[in-house]
Amino acid sequence: MIKPMNRPTLLLRDVVKTYLVGTETVRALDGVSLDIARNEYVAIMGPSGSGKSTLMNVIGCLDVPTSGTYELEGERVAAMSQAQLAEIRNRRIGFVFQTFNLLARADILHNVELPLIYGGVARQERRHRAEQALVRVGLADRMKHKPNELSGGQRQRVAIARALVFEPSIILADEPTGNLDTKTGDEIMAMLDDLHDGGQTIILVTHEEYIAEHAQRTIRLRDGVIESDTGAYAGAASPASETASVGAGEVPGVAAMAAGATPA
Ligand SMILES: Nc1ncnc2c1ncn2[C@@H]1O[C@H](COP(=O)(O)OP(=O)(O)O)[C@@H](O)[C@H]1O
Ligand SMILES: [Mg+2]
Repeated sequence: MIKPMNRPTLLLRDVVKTYLVGTETVRALDGVSLDIARNEYVAIMGPSGSGKSTLMNVIGCLDVPTSGTYELEGERVAAMSQAQLAEIRNRRIGFVFQTFNLLARADILHNVELPLIYGGVARQERRHRAEQALVRVGLADRMKHKPNELSGGQRQRVAIARALVFEPSIILADEPTGNLDTKTGDEIMAMLDDLHDGGQTIILVTHEEYIAEHAQRTIRLRDGVIESDTGAYAGAASPASETASVGAGEVPGVAAMAAGATPA
């Protein structure tokens, strides 16, 4: 029996996602089974084309599996209406992308307000919440700036503020430091670390071992399947669960590689 507290936030079983490209079927995910518990900090790694973004899109309800089961906080995603899915994407999951995905023409306050506008929050309340989120990421003095008047790191902080306005239970970050220099990337990672300390579940895609080291668990994908998982959730039915609770930092070599990749 799994105690309610330990029930996985995310549960995937035999998830397959195929794309038809011309006459060819690409199996972007080829039978992924995975449990992620509340407040886990997970890094997803793997070569280009291994299915990382597809997995993030499925987890974030931006895309639906071709087959298999996905349950989010105990609910089957396949059974949800479009309105429910939109609500989840807006309120329960915070997205952070490599390319920031901000509206170029709007000031950053408006950018952070957008999810609240879609969420039907009244004007005064949303202004207040957007300001609070920008204060939280250290951009109190930049609210009227447009994205192109900010550095890359500041833009990513805006994206984090936007992801936080509804205090989602899960943050999904697809290569959040991919377009940033190492020092700025470290600042963004420090913010994700703080959010994790505050109780958030964080799932992060990265190519860099020293970025993945921030997470407690590393899942490696290859050709749409899980090749390794350092800390499979103990409640999982998959065979990988027998290798439970080895943190990424404890895997020999990872720490050394990370040290080598950190600038002086
Ligand atoms: N919308 C799509 N249409 C067709 N093929 C896609 C689509 N999205 C991803 N793929 C294919 O699925 C595979 C996995 O892609 P992706 O999840 O983006 O990998 P990664 O993020 O690990 O680089 C790749 O072969 C890619 O070409
Ligand atoms: Mg990708």
